[in-house]
Amino acid sequence: MHTTTQVGIIGAGPAGLLLALLLHRKGIACTVLEQRTRQDIEATIKAGVLEHPTAELLRQLGVGARMDQEGFVHEGIELAFGGRRHRIDLPELTGGKTITVYAQHEVIKDLVAAVLANGTPIEFGVSDVRLDGLETARPTIHYAHTGNARSLGCDFIGGCDGFHGPSRQAIPATLRQEHLKVYPCGWFGILCEAPPSSKELIYAQSDRGFALLSTRSQSIQRLYFQCDPSDHVDNWSDDRIWAEFQARLANTEGWQVQEGRIFQKGIIAMRSFICETLRHGRLFLAGDSAHIVPPTGAKGLNLAAGDVVLLANALARYYRDDTEAGLNEYPERALRRIWRGEHFSWWMTQMLHDMEGEDSITRRFRRAQLDYVVSSRAASTALAENYVGLPFEGIEQI
Ligand code: FAD
Ligand code: DHB
Repeated sequence: MHTTTQVGIIGAGPAGLLLALLLHRKGIACTVLEQRTRQDIEATIKAGVLEHPTAELLRQLGVGARMDQEGFVHEGIELAFGGRRHRIDLPELTGGKTITVYAQHEVIKDLVAAVLANGTPIEFGVSDVRLDGLETARPTIHYAHTGNARSLGCDFIGGCDGFHGPSRQAIPATLRQEHLKVYPCGWFGILCEAPPSSKELIYAQSDRGFALLSTRSQSIQRLYFQCDPSDHVDNWSDDRIWAEFQARLANTEGWQVQEGRIFQKGIIAMRSFICETLRHGRLFLAGDSAHIVPPTGAKGLNLAAGDVVLLANALARYYRDDTEAGLNEYPERALRRIWRGEHFSWWMTQMLHDMEGEDSITRRFRRAQLDYVVSSRAASTALAENYVGLPFEGIEQI
């Protein structure tokens, strides 16, 4: 079966779903193709921190109601080292901006409901996705659905299929300009039933490595610690996990990590990756398909949102004014924000993690950097303004 649309979007993650909503607002038709089931994407545990501009974008798109009701606005984060916490006051340093803790799979539920409600088709459970005719005016996405071969003809393709998806691979390797840094550590993440240990997120540096206390609700907590990326969750009993958190968050302030039943464990790799070739003919990459950050600083989903705001505006300009000017500018404009987020994520990562094989001077530099960040208003402000998120370019045009 062959169908047609204006923009074919591959991937129903935050990038693809937000792009679909933004295009609908502009009167541009699209179809979203997703390889997993709706249940699966609505249950995958990932991010938790929404930047100020991302939360605003969700509200502007009419999908912020549940986030505002069930999410938690945080006005500060804590950096812990040397047995003490040091607070970074976000609104005070950024002219009133905050972050919102609201799980990514809850954002996905809100976005899927809104996309379907406005009549945009999402085909779940597709397979064998293949991109064709990218350098022609009418590219095609070939795929299979419930065993039947299908194709979607479109004017443009939004490659929003994450790091492992087929879109980036459809750009010939010789044309792709890519940068990669693999970190010698990963994050061990858990979800547990416990009360919060702290009112705000704690990013902790210790002699045993990094740890992060985050939250999901008054009764569910999200915690991470730096681990060997080749380690396996089965090597970590609950008792061993709690002992590690207690050791990394040991302090002289008289508080302790609140323990509880652990009901989810996972290990994630840490990379910085950028494919600067965001456009190939009629294909445009956005989100994790084009770039990955290490999780320290919580930038991934937020960078994806920034990309699709620019991309939607560029596509709208094409249909409105019959010009490719905006589309031509998309890579350069998007990359400015992407590189800023990439640098911030690397900077937070190297400041807070022990890296294998590093020398004693590097360790001392890290402590000197942390000391400076918490004691200088200029340095705290630089962290705060990046953490709450720099404004989305083009947001006023959505
Ligand atoms: P994805 O979310 O990867 O979505 C891509 C979609 O494409 C998926 O649904 C996938 O199934 C689909 N797809 C793939 N291949 C195909 C195919 N062949 N055909 C059809 N569909 C396909 N970011 C933050 O901003 N804040 C945080 O606090 C944060 N914390 C994180 C914590 C963890 C543990 C992890 C793992 C990530 C975290 N991130 C965070 C990063 C964030 O989750 C990602 O950057 C974000 O999901 C990127 O969105 P995306 O839509 O570009 O890609
Ligand atoms: C969370 C994830 C992050 O990457 C981060 O920097 C802070 C919080 C979270 O999942 O809550």
